[in-house]
Amino acid sequence: MEKNIALIRGDGIGPEIVNQAVLVLDRAAEIYGHSFHYSDVDMGGNAIDKWGEPLPEAQLQKCLNSDSVLLGAVGGPKWNDVPGPMRPEKGLLKLRAAMEVYSNNRPAKIWPQLADASPLKPEIVARGIDFMIVRELTGGIYFGTHETKQTDGQTVATDILTYSETEIRRIGRIGFETARKRGKKLSSVEKSNVLDSSRLWRKIMHELSEEYPDVELTDMLVDNCAMQIVKDPSQFDVIVTENMFGDILSDEASMITGSIGTIPSSSLGGTTRGLYEPIHGSAPDIAGMDIANPIGTILAAAMMLRYSFDMAKEADSIEKAVSDTLDAGFRTADILPPSGDLRKIGCRQMGAEICRRVR
Ligand code: IPM
Ligand code: MG
Repeated sequence: MEKNIALIRGDGIGPEIVNQAVLVLDRAAEIYGHSFHYSDVDMGGNAIDKWGEPLPEAQLQKCLNSDSVLLGAVGGPKWNDVPGPMRPEKGLLKLRAAMEVYSNNRPAKIWPQLADASPLKPEIVARGIDFMIVRELTGGIYFGTHETKQTDGQTVATDILTYSETEIRRIGRIGFETARKRGKKLSSVEKSNVLDSSRLWRKIMHELSEEYPDVELTDMLVDNCAMQIVKDPSQFDVIVTENMFGDILSDEASMITGSIGTIPSSSLGGTTRGLYEPIHGSAPDIAGMDIANPIGTILAAAMMLRYSFDMAKEADSIEKAVSDTLDAGFRTADILPPSGDLRKIGCRQMGAEICRRVR
């Protein structure tokens, strides 16, 4: 198969980790007889430096003309003081909106080889951590009106949170469908004791639930959910939630797996074209040092093969190669325990070790 992939290397460690993912993709293409064609897209801080804006139209078009997009990470302290609409992150939000990828799926799964890295007590980890956060990605407060103005002699800032029933219903369905393919348990997370948008969210989820009698639906307030994720993560199968709650809960969920550097994500909408990225940020403090962990991006590339290109065995082989590399004792610094006989390696070598094991 021939596929066109838009590559957004981005800022900080982005270029290093995307380069390793490309090597792994090319290895899988060679073994399974595909050709992947890449086009480079400037987005984030580097695009601000080069073009004066975080995602120029011509760069966005390359993404919209591709079969899928693979992204490293964007942002960094260098662009902290640029005005809100010009921030590197705005490029990412514009891309998500233009691609209409309203469903962001973030797995929280502990690798058995990395169980020691979890900050939770071993007896909690032993009960198992394997759930999926389905985060609404193109609505809510991220895309409402943002305004800062002078009122009565002081500065007042406003951000508006809006959800329509159509937006809630389409992400709700993804939640139910995802649960149906897994453990058939769906936690719908909101703040219906305070917010109107959450009360509408809860109502729509209950309506949908009648179409999915095989899935057990639980309502959970977001503050309680944050607590339950550290108290007993084994209770969760699929969590479906709005944009900002999903942003926060997915960072918490990744942390309890002990290895934020190993977690990929997919963002999809009504077509097979998706946006794939690791869930971690651009880590500017370690950029260019060859110590970043490329596993999250490599697994994001595997998700792209599975969900956008229908290449399940290719995706399986990459995931197995990652697991075999961990079994062989190779670790980047972020997942290296303080003692033991594991081998500390850099970003490039981790990419190479995984490539060798793709078969
Ligand atoms: C994420 C990130 C982004 C978000 C930022 C970079 C805009 O934190 O993908 O979780 O808040 O969605
Ligand atoms: Mg986030």
